[in-house]
Amino acid sequence: MTEGGRVRLDQLPEWKALAQHRAELGEVSLRELFDGDPKRADRFGLTVGGLFLDYSKQLVTDETLRLLRELAVATDVAGLRDAMFGGERINVTEDRAVLHTALRAPADAVIEVDGEDRENVVPAVHAVLARLSDFAERVRSGDWRGHTGRRIETVVNIGIGGSDLGPAMAYEALLPYTARELDFRFVSNVDGADLHEALRGLDPATTLFIVASKTFTTIETITNATSARKWLLDGLGGDASAVARHFVAVSTNAEKVAAFGIDTANMFEFWDWVGGRYSYDSAIGLSLLIAIGPERFREMLDGFRLMDEHFRTAPAEENAPLLLGLLGIWYGAFFDAQAHAVLPYSHYLSQFTAYLQQLDMESNGKRVDRSGVPVTWQTGPVVWGTPGTNGQHAYYQLLHQGTRLIPADLIGFARPVAELAPELAAQHDLLMANLFAQGQALAFGKTPDEVRAEGVAEELVPHRTFPGNRPTTTILADELSPSVLGQLVALYEHKVFVQGAVWDIDSFDQWGVELGKVLAKRVEPALTEGAEVPGLDGSTAGLVARYRALRGR
Ligand code: F6P
Repeated sequence: MTEGGRVRLDQLPEWKALAQHRAELGEVSLRELFDGDPKRADRFGLTVGGLFLDYSKQLVTDETLRLLRELAVATDVAGLRDAMFGGERINVTEDRAVLHTALRAPADAVIEVDGEDRENVVPAVHAVLARLSDFAERVRSGDWRGHTGRRIETVVNIGIGGSDLGPAMAYEALLPYTARELDFRFVSNVDGADLHEALRGLDPATTLFIVASKTFTTIETITNATSARKWLLDGLGGDASAVARHFVAVSTNAEKVAAFGIDTANMFEFWDWVGGRYSYDSAIGLSLLIAIGPERFREMLDGFRLMDEHFRTAPAEENAPLLLGLLGIWYGAFFDAQAHAVLPYSHYLSQFTAYLQQLDMESNGKRVDRSGVPVTWQTGPVVWGTPGTNGQHAYYQLLHQGTRLIPADLIGFARPVAELAPELAAQHDLLMANLFAQGQALAFGKTPDEVRAEGVAEELVPHRTFPGNRPTTTILADELSPSVLGQLVALYEHKVFVQGAVWDIDSFDQWGVELGKVLAKRVEPALTEGAEVPGLDGSTAGLVARYRALRGR
């Protein structure tokens, strides 16, 4: 029993039933599962909004799925889900509500945050959205002018983590929907090279900076924003009033925004109940909103909303985030899978997996349960991947023939984007043929007999055999529209939620990022001034000394 009164996950009868079931399944193969059930592909498919999920190539039977759903019931996933949607403070270590779903609620919804006055947050969400939309239209139309009276040509988003990955990913994903006459750049790294490269060739008179930071204390962002302000003022003759026309802020912290020198009239607000990695559909998405315009942004929010409603109301058997979450738990716990690959067959989703890394690994990279007791089961996997087909010529070898089991999601679209020239659009079939072929090869492999039948020399047979049984979910949509992107992101948000709920961890804090931040602050004066750092270990002290010597200090 945990302190919170919940029976520990691995002591639950439902968990033990799954362990027993796994033992009984033994070396079950996807070939057998398909051979024994011609209707498997029809049954193990799910349509939600514009997404179709084929999970027939998962190493599961009806019984597995039933037992996994029972585990979800035993761990009260639905109860925690309803608490989240209801504004309860389910982020226990920060005592905060988790209400990113309110960001996409319709204007007439009532969502109250648990607290003294149980305030309905929806009017504030829509008020900020209206201000954001108005500002975005002004920049897009050229009504918003820079200090010298010229219109804005480039928008530079300065932020990191959730204040960068979301807008950067979605901007890339929705490039065909963007105002192409505007240029967008994203700066995150405290490495000065990032800002240097982003500012190359830009004219301060036509550049707008969005400083995006929930806390407005993040060292990378504040350092880059300070350097960007200097670049701007140097370029515009040093008149400090120029800042007001070239800098806007997105934050929950008005005080810090003002202290930085940005007029809070140029600040767009969000709230502490929006986690950084769940924030790109809040004001943090301002760069994206300028890029695609309010109408497309609304379509994206509606896509999120569609998946929210599905997650909230669909029965367990048809609930896509629940299913994906439970499948991940199955492989982590009973196949010792350490990783999960997300492999989009879309050039426009080149940042999607990087975005998911924060969403998943910052949320579920936890080692103690919600009451602080170390867990004795696996939590979040290593999430990784890049767009196919590039990955096929790099690391898919390990997926097919390596010693590790790495479940994967293959994401593809029926239609190429409309603006492609006919000869480029024609390449789409080849792209998708690769996706389908990979799912097939991973699942069914190639037996030694099949290899031999091709006349391969006996000593090469083991090398050319593919064991198969590598599970995948294929997610297929018509096209990568703003709505479909919203649906996809919300699908993964809720999948991560389901896993955190079952694992009994707080998916909404991120204390694990703190130690490095504190130590960096302590070490920096040692690099710059040779200051003594009390208690510095021998290895780090040696590296610091070597660094200083290399820098001639
Ligand atoms: O360091 C991790 C983190 O706190 C993330 O959770 C967050 O998205 C990122 O830093 C940026 O934080 P902020 O938006 O406050 O600058």
